[in-house]
Amino acid sequence: MFQLYLAKMTTEGQAITCKAAVAWDRGKLLVIEDVTVAPPKTHEVRLKVIAASVCHTDSEQLYESHDGMKPRPFPMVLGHEAAGVVESVGPGVTKFRPGDKVIPLFLPQCDECEHCQSPKTNQCRRNWGNTQTGVLADGTSRISFKGQQIFQFLGVSAFSQYTVVPETSLTKIRSDAPLHKVFLLGCGVSTGYGAVINAAAVDANSVCAVFGLGAVGLAAVMGCQAAGARRIIAVDINPAKFEKAREFGATDCVNPRDHREPIQEVVVKMTGSGVDFAVECVGSPVVMTSALESTRDAWGVCVIAGWTETEAMSVKVEKLLMGRTLTGTYFGGWKSVRDVPRLVDDYMDGRLKLDEFITQSLPLDRINQAFDTLRSGESIRTVIRMWPDDGGSTNESD
Ligand code: APR
Ligand code: ZN
Repeated sequence: MFQLYLAKMTTEGQAITCKAAVAWDRGKLLVIEDVTVAPPKTHEVRLKVIAASVCHTDSEQLYESHDGMKPRPFPMVLGHEAAGVVESVGPGVTKFRPGDKVIPLFLPQCDECEHCQSPKTNQCRRNWGNTQTGVLADGTSRISFKGQQIFQFLGVSAFSQYTVVPETSLTKIRSDAPLHKVFLLGCGVSTGYGAVINAAAVDANSVCAVFGLGAVGLAAVMGCQAAGARRIIAVDINPAKFEKAREFGATDCVNPRDHREPIQEVVVKMTGSGVDFAVECVGSPVVMTSALESTRDAWGVCVIAGWTETEAMSVKVEKLLMGRTLTGTYFGGWKSVRDVPRLVDDYMDGRLKLDEFITQSLPLDRINQAFDTLRSGESIRTVIRMWPDDGGSTNESD
């Protein structure tokens, strides 16, 4: 009798109909639809998404505000910064079980490819091509609407109440982690923090500059403080970001629009010879050049964390000849499956801020508002509550 009851309750092996915010076309508002999410195939996992957020890259993909993104096929379900719970696993999956708390990863870690086996990089190449074109390993998506395939953004598609990801694009986190907070570690915060900790390897007593103070930039400021930087110069054209930046450890806040000369000249003047480390967290080639030229000669390091796929930045070769290093980072250099649970531990132990990034909380059916407030600069991160507030086990403390 009890088994019969359980059998009725389980969705394992069956298609699930649930709500998703579908991006039907570029530049159009997302529409909440009842989509069908197929069961996971071999080495795939289906998860119930509990909390997600709109990241700059989702907004860029939808609105292409500065033409920096490669075209990807519509219709699609956006979203790649999220946390949830495993609903069911496909054949061959041994590392996950229904009920596990998880964070989906737009950058996988397969532990088998040449890159995964090297300590020098986090850039796993498993399923790379498929992920970039909106499908999983077999060339199809698991999400559909009335029989029409809906593509999966970066192989994740977090703006659906259920989604399916490869087991290598998922990491299990501790069971006491609050999903409505740790979802932030799926992209922006990990990227900015890792840009400083891993890519720049900022050392104690150094002088740093962070360009752009969205979630990525604020996380970079937090990283500089954690690394013991003596001075942290926070740069943004929106002065409303400065209060938060100070809360995260910025010692100086500069608005390029308050100065006639280029911002790099302002930073060099402020510091005497330029900063030891500069981190670009905007995704603008012009700002990237400014960041590089803000660093000092002999040992200055400039890390690009902002995203652009199609544009080029301008580099005066002399800047490099004089001893500066220019580099970039993808997902902050973290080996995703291994390191995200460690970052969750850091948050749980009070070594990493997350709550301070969340400026708004909205239900899934108001997701377009989260895009608006990110684009206008009013919000840092909005937590999208994927389930109605009275949805049983999915309250904000999960
Ligand atoms: N100079 C300084 N700051 C700028 C400039 C500029 N010319 N132009 C924009 N900014 C600021 C914005 O005012 C905003 O505060 O950059 C910040 C960008 O923040 P968000 O839009 O919230 O973006 P975020 O999610 O932090 O991502 C930043 O990193 O990983 C990438 O794809 C991501 O390219 C994006 C970048
Ligand atoms: Zn790999």
